[in-house]
Order: sequence, then C-alpha cells, then structure tokens
Amino acid sequence: MNKMNDQAIRGLFVTGTDTGVGKTVVTAALTAMLRAEGLNAGVWKPIQSGAPLGSGLTDAERLLHSTGINERPESVAPFTFEAPLTPLLAAKQAGVTLTLKIIIDAGRSLAKRYDALIIEGAGGVAVPLTNEAMVVDLISELRIPALIVARSGLGTINHTVMTASFLRHRGIPIVGVLLNDGELPEPNDDPSIATNAQLIEQFSGLKVLGRLPRLHAEATSETLIHTGRNTIDFAPIREAIAVQLMGG
Ligand SMILES: Nc1ncnc2c1ncn2[C@@H]1O[C@H](COP(=O)(O)OP(=O)(O)OP(=O)(O)O)[C@@H](O)[C@H]1O
Ligand SMILES: [Mg+2]
Repeated sequence: MNKMNDQAIRGLFVTGTDTGVGKTVVTAALTAMLRAEGLNAGVWKPIQSGAPLGSGLTDAERLLHSTGINERPESVAPFTFEAPLTPLLAAKQAGVTLTLKIIIDAGRSLAKRYDALIIEGAGGVAVPLTNEAMVVDLISELRIPALIVARSGLGTINHTVMTASFLRHRGIPIVGVLLNDGELPEPNDDPSIATNAQLIEQFSGLKVLGRLPRLHAEATSETLIHTGRNTIDFAPIREAIAVQLMGG
C-alpha cells in the first residue's frame, strides 16, 4: 500500500460543466491560494487543444502566468494540439494516438516536483481523450477528488447535477461546486443567480463553495488570491488535499 502511495499523484482535479466555464481561472486561483498558504502546489493540464505552445494562449501558459509558477509550459501540458477540436480528434489530426497510461505517465515527473497538483481537465467529464477513455476515466484512474466549476447563470442546475451524477457513478469524490460569473454579460440580468446555488445543493447534495465574480482579463495572482479568499469556502479544498498528504 505504501508503495502505491509513493507513486500516487496527489491533488485535485478541476473539471467543469462545459468548455469555457472558467476552469483555467479557477485552477489558477486555487493554486495561487494554496501556494500563498505555503503548500508547494503545481498545475497540470494533461491535454490541451486549440492553440500552439508559445502563443501565450494555451491553458498551460495562462496557468503559469497567473500563478507565477516557474515551470516549462511543455511540462505542465505534455500534450498540446493546435486544432480547435476535442482532444481525441485534435490528437488524431496530429497523428498521435494516446492512451490513459501515456497521459498519466507524462505527468509523473511533474507530480514529483510538487506536494500536490491542481489538474485542469479538458471541457467537461464526458469529453473523449482517447479511443477508449473520457475525462471521467482519467479522474477515476488518478484516484483524486474532483471540483466542479459551473456557470452561475441559467442552465447551471441541469449541467451541474448531471456532472455530479456522472462522477458519482464512477465513485469519484466531489469536493464541491464553484460557480463562476465569468461568462455572464451582466449578473443583474439573470434572476436565476439568486437561487441557483441553493437549488444545486438541494438537488445534487453537494456543497456550493462559492461564486467567483467577474475579474479583469489580466488578473494577477494577488488579485486571484484576494478574490478567492473573499468568495470561496476554501476549507474543504484545503482539507481534501491535506488528507492525501497525510497518506489518507
Ligand atoms: N471570473 C472571471 N472573470 C473574468 N473572465 C473570466 C472569468 N472566468 C472566466 N473568464 C474568461 O472566460 C473565458 C473562459 O474561461 P476559462 O478559459 O477559464 O474556461 P475553461 O473552462 O478553462 O475553458 P476550456 O474548456 O477551454 O479549458 C476566458 O477568456 C477567461 O479569461
Ligand atoms: Mg481551460
């Protein structure tokens, strides 16, 4: 058992109800908050697609920029594909065939350099990564808890409850839900926001850990830390990682 623990990748998997819901922003904020508390937290984006490394537009580069972590983008995202397609198809277009083992093994040396990794998924839980595996299979194989990032506006109850159900079906522990105002044109225009958190809790049985407000496009890690401290119930996240560090 100890041997298994030695090799285990520790951390938190940040998934979401969809692409574009704010996983990168949330992953950066949580990582910056953990680092500010003295934990040597790193970031890992197992697969990304849609832009080339070096463009500054990839999630790996955005994560490094907004956390201030000194790491090579290709270490944070060992598999980057340019095509703006789901990872499976973007990899295929680049002539690459991936398996879950290849994806996970590519993150092991990164994991050894950090106490814990905050891992950003691709899209949502049912996004195909390989011919056999979806994001949910990657989370399950990693044996780490997940956090669900969801939009704060209309439609989020349905997406969040379905995502939670999908993860639970595979026995994946869920730390909670984080709502994000990022995509809202104007929060005041959406009356569902006032009740979404409570209804998500009622119908999913999960805790909504907070609601991230709209930030400036170039938010620094200081802003992310400050905003996160004011808006996120951080204790369950800290605890989910601490348990793993204690070998639990
Ligand atoms: N709270 C926020 N304030 C301001 N902008 C935000 C916020 N959250 C997200 N955004 C912006 O919305 C867009 C989508 O967010 P983000 O890239 O974090 O989503 P994602 O879930 O990581 O998407 P992907 O599936 O492509 O990885 C980005 O341009 C991001 O800067
Ligand atoms: Mg992202």
